[in-house]
Amino acid sequence: MDFYNGPMDNSYPIFYNDPDDLVKALELIKKAIEGEKEDEMFYTQLIQAAPTEEQKRIIRSIRDDEKKHDAYFREIYEDLVGDVPDRSLEVTRVIMPIDYISGLGRAFAGEVQTVKEYRPIREAMPNQYYRDILFEIITDELRHAALYNNLLIMNQNMTKDKYEDKQMNNKMNKGNKNYKMYKR
Ligand SMILES: [Fe+2]
Ligand SMILES: [Fe+2]
Repeated sequence: MDFYNGPMDNSYPIFYNDPDDLVKALELIKKAIEGEKEDEMFYTQLIQAAPTEEQKRIIRSIRDDEKKHDAYFREIYEDLVGDVPDRSLEVTRVIMPIDYISGLGRAFAGEVQTVKEYRPIREAMPNQYYRDILFEIITDELRHAALYNNLLIMNQNMTKDKYEDKQMNNKMNKGNKNYKMYKR
């Protein structure tokens, strides 16, 4: 199988890798295109479930990055193979988690996983131009993982605060009852 080596620009050094690695990388790119689309749809639902405007804004920026990644991977695939990826790669629906916080947990785990999966794609890229694109994508995913981790902590604290407020109210109510009993 022959592959086109990318933009005919001599400013980008060309790497001669094992062609088998590139074949494997192209399979991973197809999987990545599906994953990016899935994430985009999943995060759109998370935006709707987010309790504050600030949280919606953070997830919206992550969602827009995934759209950008999808376009990048499609561009690389087309350049290297000379054809657009299969239409069967179109993802039409995603299974939603039961609540917002477990959604954040799943999003965090997914972001961490993509970093691992995208590394061999970067290593197999035939020139610096594509490696730079992969570097941008991978560092975005690392940022996303950190942002979701932060959202998780924020929301877990909010839930904990609510729980503690409830406990405190219960105690106070009990106290009031005792007080009334004492008065009687
Ligand atoms: Fe992504
Ligand atoms: Fe991401």
